[in-house]
Amino acid sequence: MEPKKRLLVLHYSQTGQLDRVLESVVSALQEDPAVEVDFLELRPANPYPYPWPVIRFINAFPESVHETGCELALDTSALKDSYDLVILGYQVWYLAPSIPVSAFLRGELAEKLLKDTPVVTVIACRNMWLQAHEKVRKHMTRLGARLIGNMALVDEGGSAASFLSTPLWLLTGNRGPYRFGIPRAGVSDKDIAGARRFGEALRQRLNSEQPLDETVWQGMGAVEIRDKLIPSEKIASRSFYIWGKLFLACGGPDAPLRKPLAVIYLIFLITMILTLVPISALLKKLFSPLLRRRIAQQRQHFAWPSGE
Ligand SMILES: Cc1cc2nc3c(=O)[nH]c(=O)nc-3n(C[C@H](O)[C@H](O)[C@H](O)COP(=O)(O)O)c2cc1C
Repeated sequence: MEPKKRLLVLHYSQTGQLDRVLESVVSALQEDPAVEVDFLELRPANPYPYPWPVIRFINAFPESVHETGCELALDTSALKDSYDLVILGYQVWYLAPSIPVSAFLRGELAEKLLKDTPVVTVIACRNMWLQAHEKVRKHMTRLGARLIGNMALVDEGGSAASFLSTPLWLLTGNRGPYRFGIPRAGVSDKDIAGARRFGEALRQRLNSEQPLDETVWQGMGAVEIRDKLIPSEKIASRSFYIWGKLFLACGGPDAPLRKPLAVIYLIFLITMILTLVPISALLKKLFSPLLRRRIAQQRQHFAWPSGE
């Protein structure tokens, strides 16, 4: 009898959304007697609050952007030495992988589990994941892992509505729909259920002679690149980086100076989003005939490895 294929699912979710997406992907694999599935929760030793108090929410950005990590409480007792495939689920915090995920990626265990191993990433976030994907790609290269797939699910409400609905959800714990026509926050149930097909594709590869490589999720609509977000993500991520240094110089998230700084930053951030995103989208539209080739290259870059 063929030895069972070993699959590891790395996960962390505050509201349960990302876990539901991963459950949908993994369901097809769990039904396969030839596949053994292990889970490792990337649980922070000191849990992050949900719902988030506003100032604490803002104060999470320097540690997210600079990927300083946090202490993790991992239960590694059931882990095997190596896996045939690893699924890394992550959500985006401030255009970077969430703090527990980046803490894991920076640790020794990540190298042990991911080196020379095919990895697929599963993202569920509001809608700005390009820079986080860039960071995770770099981690994969550093760790010697083989990133062979990436899929991203985003909030169903669209850019403008989710600018309100996602923070409302995270700050109140109520997913909506809200008053004044603000739709429900988060990824749609239909998209979550549809994610099962990505697990089916993995299952098919694990059981076939075909190599488990970058083609596994190609042609499946694994990601959608909203190119108008490319410049805003780039600029915002630079700004987060610089402000983040200032915050970190004031001490940890609970340092007294960081509270007033967070209030100032909140005002700056809202102003920046309300101006920068539409202005950069407008400029992009105006110059798009000149930038067509460059935009096509960028789309291809960010869509790698699975494509749109
Ligand atoms: C502190 C924080 C920052 C976030 N920043 C972003 C972001 O930059 N881009 C984005 O698309 N979503 C962002 N989100 C939304 C998350 O990616 C995710 O959709 C939401 O937190 C639900 O994830 P969960 O599975 O952990 O519950 C942020 C969430 C939190 C808590």
